[in-house]
Amino acid sequence: MANLRISLAVVLFQAVLYRSSDALWCNCTTAECEKTGSLCETDGACMASTSVFEGQEQHIRTCLNQDKLVPPGQPFYCRGAEGYVNTHCCYTDFCNSIDLKVPTGTTSPGHDGGYGPGGTWGLIQLVAVVAGPLFLLCLLLLLGMFLYQYHQRAYNHRQRLEVEDPSCDHLYLAKDRTLQDLIYDLSTSGSGSGLPLFVQRTVARTIVLQEIIGKGRFGEVWRGRWRGGDVAVKIFSSREERSWFREAEIYQTIMLRHENILGFIAADNKDNGTWTQLWLVSDYHEHGSLCDSLHRYSVTTEGMIKLALSAASGLAHLHMEILGTQGKPGIAHRDLKSKNILVKKNCTCAIADLGLAVRHDSATDTIDIAPNQRVGTKRYMAPEVLDETINTRHFDSFKCADIYALGLVYWEIARRFNSGGVHEEYQLPYFDLVPSDPSIEEMRKVVCDQKLRPNIANWWQSYEALRVMGKIMRECWYANGAARLTALRVKKTLSQLSVQEDIKV
Ligand SMILES: *[C@@H]1O[C@H](CO)[C@@H](O)[C@H](O)[C@H]1NC(C)=O
Repeated sequence: MANLRISLAVVLFQAVLYRSSDALWCNCTTAECEKTGSLCETDGACMASTSVFEGQEQHIRTCLNQDKLVPPGQPFYCRGAEGYVNTHCCYTDFCNSIDLKVPTGTTSPGHDGGYGPGGTWGLIQLVAVVAGPLFLLCLLLLLGMFLYQYHQRAYNHRQRLEVEDPSCDHLYLAKDRTLQDLIYDLSTSGSGSGLPLFVQRTVARTIVLQEIIGKGRFGEVWRGRWRGGDVAVKIFSSREERSWFREAEIYQTIMLRHENILGFIAADNKDNGTWTQLWLVSDYHEHGSLCDSLHRYSVTTEGMIKLALSAASGLAHLHMEILGTQGKPGIAHRDLKSKNILVKKNCTCAIADLGLAVRHDSATDTIDIAPNQRVGTKRYMAPEVLDETINTRHFDSFKCADIYALGLVYWEIARRFNSGGVHEEYQLPYFDLVPSDPSIEEMRKVVCDQKLRPNIANWWQSYEALRVMGKIMRECWYANGAARLTALRVKKTLSQLSVQEDIKV
């Protein structure tokens, strides 16, 4: 049996290698195939998959192009995800014209056997004779099983996964692959910006929510578990459908993935009849936001440079336009602040909350949505946003407004610089000049009319790293947006500083 499975696997594997040039026809159930008569043509494989969702079997048939058969030899799409009870890839014409069976977990209990009313006395007698010893036996058996399971839990878990996997792929599959690995494979193989939608849906629907970790204007953020790992789930209220859609759209911008931008996993809208639940699933970072971290901890020279440099790297990637077919449009964040930046395990930043971002179409020099003028957080609004002089037709003006906010975030970090046990407590920018939850008018008076900026203390000059940070901030805060540094320039300056200070990043 094992031999047969191995040789079958080898045959399939060879089929992948040798069939690569000729086209293959497959049955197709997705919406795009409706006009082609439920068929699709591919240079890769045909796929059939059956999942059970809310008690209903769903059959999906589709084409998988060569570039989606990653990693080679063990394509992710050909494996069963947890909700995908049965998934199958094959390499001949219309070979996916099959309905995979969902393995039934529990067999329905059989009917009562031969005991009619006449057999009752026999039953009672039987029970009397057998029950005592049987009961003891069961007890022993249970105890044994419990002990066995207790010792072999980890081992058992692995075994169970393999038994459940109906395909033969597991013969050469590494079972310890995490979601991050899978997404990394997909995004570096050139197949776009993340998981395809039907996989996103399956992932989202097999997440178990654990605890609420935040609330915002859009809804709630939860920590959830998927395949033994943590994920963050942002749940939008149904009236925020547009925000949900917009944020999902931005995160799925091609080539957006970057170590300093929050990793997007899945978007799902689940209609339960009375209301729609809108989910956005992303990487989970246990340190939480930069704002929370700075509240709790002061930073060393190294910590400060790492946070600042990684934030600049993320923003530079966001702003940058990459040309070519696999290119990326320039993106401006429009709501950059310490609450929207997450701190990763290695103490670097990941920029999050792209719901208000705008993308630049350089071919037509337009912005992909009509930008309503003043969005974002009032405290972090650039002077030209506060007094509405910003040129919204010019994409670069939004980038300049981001840089102003980055300068404020740097000030928050630098204030927490710990020089031999001495450091200031955490404060929001302009804490000493405006009340909490300031109005636009209050902000405008301070930032535009009085032209005030957060205070850069004189003693900062005595530490090289702080001196450089202070200089960067000033150059991020010019009233004239065009005069401010670019994210790339900030990144380069901080890279030099990190080399100078001998910091590995
Ligand atoms: C798959 O496509 C073939 C060819 O068009 C067709 O005959 C067959 O009925 C299709 N199978 C399913 C299950 O739709």
